[in-house]
Amino acid sequence: MNPLELPFWAERPLRVLVTGCAGFIGSTLCDRLLEAGHEVVGIDCFSDYYDPALKRENLRGALAHPSFRLVEGDLNELELTERVADRQVVFHLAAQAGVRASWGQEFGVYLQANIAATQLLLEALKDLPRGGEGFRRLVYSSSSSVYGDQPHYPVTEDVDKHPFSPYGVTKLAAEHLCELYAANWGLPASSLRYFTVYGPRQRPDMAFRKFMEAAARGEVWRIYGDGRQSRDFTYVDDAVDANLLAAADASSYGAYNIGGGERIDLLSALRILREKVIEHGIAPSVTMVHEDPVKGDVRHTGADPSRARERLGFSASIPLREGLDRMARWMAARISS
Ligand SMILES: NC(=O)c1ccc[n+]([C@@H]2O[C@H](COP(=O)([O-])OP(=O)(O)OC[C@H]3O[C@@H](n4cnc5c(N)ncnc54)[C@H](O)[C@@H]3O)[C@@H](O)[C@H]2O)c1
Repeated sequence: MNPLELPFWAERPLRVLVTGCAGFIGSTLCDRLLEAGHEVVGIDCFSDYYDPALKRENLRGALAHPSFRLVEGDLNELELTERVADRQVVFHLAAQAGVRASWGQEFGVYLQANIAATQLLLEALKDLPRGGEGFRRLVYSSSSSVYGDQPHYPVTEDVDKHPFSPYGVTKLAAEHLCELYAANWGLPASSLRYFTVYGPRQRPDMAFRKFMEAAARGEVWRIYGDGRQSRDFTYVDDAVDANLLAAADASSYGAYNIGGGERIDLLSALRILREKVIEHGIAPSVTMVHEDPVKGDVRHTGADPSRARERLGFSASIPLREGLDRMARWMAARISS
């Protein structure tokens, strides 16, 4: 089902805010909302975590759309009350992403972008008039990294959480903030715990994109650890569907696993990726080598999808092979242009 056909989305245009609108997932969400006739304000500070030019490229379509307005700035510095005043749905994707960079001095950036900014946004939303023409829901982009290493897979939402990276700690703290604003102020909110999202526009620090770009330069693929670590890879359009469905979530607060539906080890995923890289002419061949594991990386992830299926009607629809085919086609077109 296309979530935008839900009665919730039938009133057009709904007035929507997307934070982190220039990022990988945020820009894909904006395009989808605009295509469906909604009115979108996007906030992004074009942080330099990766090349801001790539973010401008992500936003090119949205910026050309008459129903899109960009507010360029940092959530920690903007006058947010003004920015959210007429918004009905807020998708909060702005964050300092990435597990590996969250150690040491950089942690301060994570605290500001992931925790402090979320608290400011919640403060701005808590007194808005609710329902109908007023504010309806906050959908927060959380992460499977809140779980850390777990004794059993797949994980359900209620297991004890032991984040294994400073990044995971900040994502969990922001979830707690959403939950406590829901409990104290009746602010309707949902947290979506994505499991490794991939697809066109994927962040350049993430594995599939890194590997595709390395292949295009004729470099070997350097794999952290033995490659037997497993992931529940989620195609970006499925993550966007989950956001749209969560906007219509009927609970006062809900946290949901958003996974791709197949858990696969990294080496098997990379074999498919290699096939697609060769098929789409990105590189004629690829060699893989192993390197030491990286601190903060969990060994496995795997989502129990039951709650999101039962309460939101979400189930992933793009299998890994299909998703990697689409991503490789996108990358091949980018390289040749
Ligand atoms: N990509 C994944 O696999 C994945 C997995 C789990 C969770 N998430 C979460 O999903 C969200 C989107 O991730 P992504 O991969 O698209 O990341 P991204 O880095 O591409 O997008 C995040 C955007 O937020 C912006 N931003 C950061 N701090 C900001 C601030 N203080 N004010 C305004 N804008 C700010 C950045 O400039 C960037 O454009 C993040 O919250 C991330 O933690 C992503």
